[in-house]
Amino acid sequence: MKNKGKFIVIEGMDGSGKSTIIKMFKKYLLDNNKLDKFVFTREPGSTFSKEAEKIRDLILDNENDFSSTVDALLFATSRRINLEKGIWPELEKGKVVISDRYWHSSFVYQGILGKAGLKEVKKINQIATKNTKPNFVIFFDLEPQISIERLTNLRNHMDRLESMNVNYYIKLRKAYWEVINDNPSTFRVIDASCQIDELFEKVINVLKDEKVI
Ligand code: TYD
Repeated sequence: MKNKGKFIVIEGMDGSGKSTIIKMFKKYLLDNNKLDKFVFTREPGSTFSKEAEKIRDLILDNENDFSSTVDALLFATSRRINLEKGIWPELEKGKVVISDRYWHSSFVYQGILGKAGLKEVKKINQIATKNTKPNFVIFFDLEPQISIERLTNLRNHMDRLESMNVNYYIKLRKAYWEVINDNPSTFRVIDASCQIDELFEKVINVLKDEKVI
């Protein structure tokens, strides 16, 4: 399918400023009278469908105990609904669609960190999305230690739980890099260890380079 619009995905380490940057970018577009060219969405769930939001609730409910493969299928189902109800029609209208997370999150969380396996999760997603690839992915990279510091805000007080988390973030970052190295030309990696204003400037520069704004 040849799209008239552009499909851009934002992924990032926890604490990398992903949500704040998306908010800042919406304000930038509003201030510059460009908001109507853009559509924002986020996963899991769908900003276009209450049914997909129910799947989001199902996935994020800690009471539920699903295998990684079931999780991958649920994420892929909500992803498909989001494509059908929002992303595909908006791209067809020529909009720039910005998605907070996409299949790369499934590759990382269910495929590599979970037990579903990268190959299987890729297959599930190829079918679920009709292999709809983003034009590019912005990835906010962050050292695991900085993720922890930002999330706990306790720079010098690492207790047992937090040091366990460091290992988790090391694995998370490694998994993201495995996905990036698998398809490096898709990714625009941005070092997110700087202040938020500087990070925002870097994002704007990438979007200008890509002729999105
Ligand atoms: P959410 O509360 O939406 O927040 P954020 O994007 O700010 O982290 O949490 C989404 C969680 O779901 C997050 O921990 C990543 C996870 N996730 C997956 O495991 N697989 C996926 O395919 C997606 C889209 C998200």
